[in-house]
Amino acid sequence: FATESFRESLVNWFYENQRILPWRESKDAYRVWVSEIMLQQTRVETVIPYYEAFMRRFPTAEDLAAADEEDILKAWEGLGYYSRVRNLQSAVKEVVEQYGGKVPDTKEEISSLKGVGPYTAGAILSIAYGKPEPAVDGNVMRVLSRILLIEEDIAKPAARKRFEQVLYELISKEDPSAFNQGLMELGALICTPRSPGCLLCPVRPHCRAYEAGVQEGLPIKSKK
Ligand code: ADE
Repeated sequence: FATESFRESLVNWFYENQRILPWRESKDAYRVWVSEIMLQQTRVETVIPYYEAFMRRFPTAEDLAAADEEDILKAWEGLGYYSRVRNLQSAVKEVVEQYGGKVPDTKEEISSLKGVGPYTAGAILSIAYGKPEPAVDGNVMRVLSRILLIEEDIAKPAARKRFEQVLYELISKEDPSAFNQGLMELGALICTPRSPGCLLCPVRPHCRAYEAGVQEGLPIKSKK
């Protein structure tokens, strides 16, 4: 597998084709964090106006830590899954109390925060801090299962770890942020669940599923 060429194609494509999204305007770790929590169960187009309003209302970790729960829930109204924002405020309070308001930059510390799972930890560490940590969600598993023709059942909890292991080798050490966001963006714009746009894909020459003609049959996902 031509790892270096794959990285370069993906990263260059990301810089040329990324959507303009409000959470891409700054690398501030708190801002990245809020966006990733909102995006976990909610679509990008829905998140955009909520994100902008939330950031105007609670621009820093200190602002969110000091806010009344009632006001936070009000700002979240319509997004659903309210435990997300309750956990976020608890975690942000801890960041203010334990880390002086700066989101920690190690996997151990960041993963100890309420509501911060492996995906969110990897997204913050790579996007805000430039660390070569994978950020594996369903979209990334789909893209990677196709490129490397990985026939792992993504419904199984163990699947995420397998993809993380592969990504530790694959991730750009020069630009982990663009690499991870490139995978996410490829999954959103080209490598879609149905009828992927392979003819437009920047990494088609690297794609084992395309070569075998099996891209539409991947990833494998059993019914739980
Ligand atoms: N989905 C999850 N994280 C995202 C991000 N940072 N940009 C776009 N879509 C996403």
